[in-house]
Formats: sequence, C-alpha cells, structure tokens
Amino acid sequence: MTAPGSDQDLRLRIAGELERARSRSTLLTEVVDETELMRQHSPIMSPLVWDLAHVGNQEELWLVRDVGGRDPVRRDIDDLYDAFKQPRKDRPALPLLRPDEARGYLTTVRSKVLDLLDGIRFDGSRLVAEGFAFGMIVQHEQQHDETMLATHQLRLGPAALAAPPPPAGTVSVSGEVRVPGSRFTMGTSTDPWALDNERPAHVVDVPEFFIDAAPVTNREYLAFMSDGGYDDERWWSGPGWDHRREAGLTAPLHWRYDGVEWGYVRFGRYAPLIMEEPVVHVCFYEAEAYAAWAGKRLPTEVEWEKAARWDPSTGRSRRYPWGDGDPTPEHANLGQRHLAPAPVGAYPAGASPLGVHQLIGDVWEWTSSGFEGYPGFVAFPYREYSEVFFGNSYRMLRGGSFGTDRSACRGTFRNWDLPIRRQIFSGFRCARDPRPEETGA
Ligand SMILES: [Fe+2]
Repeated sequence: MTAPGSDQDLRLRIAGELERARSRSTLLTEVVDETELMRQHSPIMSPLVWDLAHVGNQEELWLVRDVGGRDPVRRDIDDLYDAFKQPRKDRPALPLLRPDEARGYLTTVRSKVLDLLDGIRFDGSRLVAEGFAFGMIVQHEQQHDETMLATHQLRLGPAALAAPPPPAGTVSVSGEVRVPGSRFTMGTSTDPWALDNERPAHVVDVPEFFIDAAPVTNREYLAFMSDGGYDDERWWSGPGWDHRREAGLTAPLHWRYDGVEWGYVRFGRYAPLIMEEPVVHVCFYEAEAYAAWAGKRLPTEVEWEKAARWDPSTGRSRRYPWGDGDPTPEHANLGQRHLAPAPVGAYPAGASPLGVHQLIGDVWEWTSSGFEGYPGFVAFPYREYSEVFFGNSYRMLRGGSFGTDRSACRGTFRNWDLPIRRQIFSGFRCARDPRPEETGA
C-alpha cells in the first residue's frame, strides 16, 4: 500500500526519471547526423534510430495502452519495433521511421504518459503498484541508452561524445578479501522497481571464498597478454579456445598496439592505456582464461552478490555495497557522467563493509553462472523480459558500468549476454576457494 499523501511524491519522482532517461536518449541521437542514425554500425547492433523508436513503442505499449487503457498511437509500427520479430541484422532494411518521425512519435507518446501519470493512483493492479510499470519503462529506456552508447563506441569516424575524465584513485586497493561462509539472502522481494529475475529473495548457504578487492586492471591484464596468455591453450576452456582461434582474439576489443605501447580507441579518440583502470571490452572466455592463468576462477553470481550486499555485522543484505541509499557520484561511476571506467581506488565511499571496491559502476563483471530463475520465480509482467532466455548459454554480468544509469543498477540487478560478446562495457574480477590452510578461520 502506498502511504497517504505519497502518490504525488511518486508521480514527481517518476516524471523526473522519465525526463532524465529522455534527455540521455536525446543526447545520444542528436550528436550524429541522420545518415549515421539510420546506418548499422555493427551487425550485432541496431541502427540508433531503431533503438529510439523502439523505446517509444515500448512506452506506448505498456503505459499508454496497458496502464492507461488509451487508444493506440501507432499500432501499425508495433511489428517493426518488436525485438523478437526483427533480428538485429535485419533492422536496417526495415521501413523504419526517419529520425524526425521517430522524435515526433516519442514526443506524442510521452505527452500521453505524463497526462495519465497526472491522475494515476498507485494502489491498483500489481502493474501500477508503487509505480512498477513506469519504473520498468524508465529502466528499459536507460538500458537502450547504454546499448546506444555501446553503438557509439563501435561507430567509426570522428568523436561525437565528450565528457570529463573519471576521478583519480585516492586509496590503494589490491589483493583479495575473505568472505566467511554463511547463509545469505540473495535477490529481493521488496525493492519496488526490481525486475522479475531479481525476485524473490531467497536464502543461499554460501561457503567461504576469496574475491579480488577490485576489478582486474589493464596492468594486470597486460601481464597475462605478455605471458602469452592468448596463445596458451591451458588457460582456456574448450569452447573458449575454439572461439579465441576462430575469432582471432589477441587483445581486448578496441585495443591498438602502435609498435611501442598499447592504447585504445574510445568513442573515436585514441589514448594510451591507463594502467590502473579496470580492463573493459573482454568476453567471458577471455575473463575465464585470465582467471585460470592467475590461479583463480570467476565468482559465481551468488558470490558476487554476497560480496556486494552482505553486512557481516547484521547478516542482512543491503541494496548496495555502501548501504540502502541510492548511488551518488561519490559512490560509483554510473550514468555516462564519464566515458571510461575509473581507476581502481577512485570510489572508497562505495566499498562494501568487507572492503570490496567498485562492485557497482565502472565495468559490468562477468560471473561463471548461467541464467536461471530463482526458486519461486514468476514471470512478470511478460515472459519475454527474462524467462525465454533461461537455460541457454548466456553468462551473468553484475554491477553495471560507467554507461549504466543508477535507475537500472542495484546490488540485485542481473544482466546477461553470450560468452563471446565484448561490445558491452564488460570486465571482471577473480575469486577462489580457500586453500586448506586458510579454511575455518
Ligand atoms: Fe527493448
């Protein structure tokens, strides 16, 4: 139940979040010209103008038609923007709305949404309780904004986006953190905008493990490369080695070697590597090989979440490593404020009680777990959000990146992708079992 008088607060908060998402979509699609918006910059990405109109179409389907019960704005374009009916490779050839038409469509849909938001009460169906459907649409737009940001990174040509560099590291963070064995409450049943795959909260017995205090840095990853890691089959899983050979992997995506040193091309600009930055744009198989080379392994999803949320003094699970409050710029590198991960040690205020740093923001972190529903999972509000992806070869990613908005990032938030993908802002940290002499402290 919503407390009396708080409906208006929630309406204002929703309107603000919708506006923040739209400002970001607008920025990402106004810095390049019409030809670039219509073009496919990579076969695994949509033209930017498809993402833009798709965001509006989902908003129309869920909020205008479903929640609001209003007449359709453009029923004729539903199929064009249905991600399940239109594979990404086919999207550029579709009769898509031109950029101006797409912008006009988004404006029409948004004005209807703000109109219906004005009089809504949040104590009705489960879809509207606590503003869930609005929160889902905010997160959906922000998720597509991160996808559009990844498209910008893949795009060739002069730089279009700019942002100040992330803060420097202010504390020294290295080594591992011991996480004692205990019962841990994973997932959530109470976070109002948590998506179906984060639910319900359930207790898992997690044996003792060690986890890196920070994500693996460029310096550490370069040591793996210099040691011949890409050419040594011992470190790679069978499917990983097959992929490494077929795809000709020799370094993270976007890295360049100029004959003297390594650098990367980031959003259209070349820069030498910053050694203390978390490595980014590696696939699951590269992360797995690095971990084997380091004598470790990737954390499981429950280990990652326990390192991020478990409060050893109370046994309670927090929303974030630092507590229950929403992220601020002091806690984590989120929301495209910067166009790069921050060096290790840049966010001491965001560390977990056990001293694990930069779990939220900077880079998505690969885990060894596949995608399954939690015990008691119920698809809501539609199977296509999560359930149809269960049980395939996806690997889970946690924690969000510099391109993830705070509205789409929590200690419980789950992301997934194929183990070969590295266009996303993906890095990792390692974990390991305790050695015999370390157990039962
Ligand atoms: Fe979508």
